[in-house]
Amino acid sequence: MNSLETRLGRAVFRNPVMGASGCTGHGYELAEYTDLSRYGAVSLKTVTYHARPGNPPERVNEVPGGIISSIGLQNPGPDVFLAQTMPKSLAALDRDQIVVSVAGDTVEEYVELCRRTVERYGDQIAAVEVNAACPNVNHGAGYYSRDAQAARELVTAAKEAVDVPVFYKFNTNFENYLEVAAAVSETGVDAIYTSNTPMGLKIDIRKKRPVLGNVVGPVCGSAIRPIGMLRIWNLYQVVSVPLVASGGASTWEDVIEYMLAGATAVGVGSAQFAHPDIVPQIVSGLEEYVRREGLDSLSTLVGAAHA
Ligand SMILES: Cc1cc2nc3c(=O)[nH]c(=O)nc-3n(C[C@H](O)[C@H](O)[C@H](O)COP(=O)(O)O)c2cc1C
Repeated sequence: MNSLETRLGRAVFRNPVMGASGCTGHGYELAEYTDLSRYGAVSLKTVTYHARPGNPPERVNEVPGGIISSIGLQNPGPDVFLAQTMPKSLAALDRDQIVVSVAGDTVEEYVELCRRTVERYGDQIAAVEVNAACPNVNHGAGYYSRDAQAARELVTAAKEAVDVPVFYKFNTNFENYLEVAAAVSETGVDAIYTSNTPMGLKIDIRKKRPVLGNVVGPVCGSAIRPIGMLRIWNLYQVVSVPLVASGGASTWEDVIEYMLAGATAVGVGSAQFAHPDIVPQIVSGLEEYVRREGLDSLSTLVGAAHA
């Protein structure tokens, strides 16, 4: 058996290192910079029900130990995504690596996107990821990340609509994130994927103005990893489904640390901007680690620090 094999509900991946949505393109863009076959999975850039131009520039800026960004889910919408983007992702990645990330303003929009994706590509993808951190929903930003009942209804509807594994990705910034995760866990969702990215602000002291066109934005990168660690630690105690951690992972040691806290898999996001070949390096480090430790399966580490 492959000692890095990773199960997220019904989905089985070659290893626990996943390219996080929005930081890994659609996979194929990275093909000339890295070995995509070493990715456990790639969550493709989120596609929304309506095409979105995204937020006004500037959208990305460096901060100590990471970046602050506010992209606003720019994407060309489902028609272009399904007809033009997906074929390129399918050519670059294997079936077990492709996770399609979707977002809408209402449950109906999410469900419709899941349906359309699975109707056309259901037998060629590993899972759909319902991105609940959508900034522009009918009920206000992050509604499906902060309202437990709405989140449960969303995931239940998505699971009923399609017969592929479903992941729920949410932002843990809201005070009730444990309550939301517990409610979603009860649906039997295949995995809960966390974006542990607190909001931040950076001001350009020469222009005397915020650097981001949207003024504020989430902070990601290694600066926030201890925050993500604590949230995964807390989540592990209240959910009964696998957790995927994202927030500041850039080394194999970071992945092990997140696993010991309770994550079954780890999303690597912005670290790829500086080092597009980082994921294969992390996976090699994990392979070396299981050899050194004599582990049959890396997954035996999940939550081990709680014992
Ligand atoms: C530029 C940028 C774009 C992103 N776009 C998306 C997106 O479209 N969908 C999504 O679910 N998450 C998106 N994210 C969040 C990442 O997937 C990830 O959860 C977050 O950056 C934390 O991981 P990191 O610290 O390793 O970057 C984006 C992050 C960044 C920095």
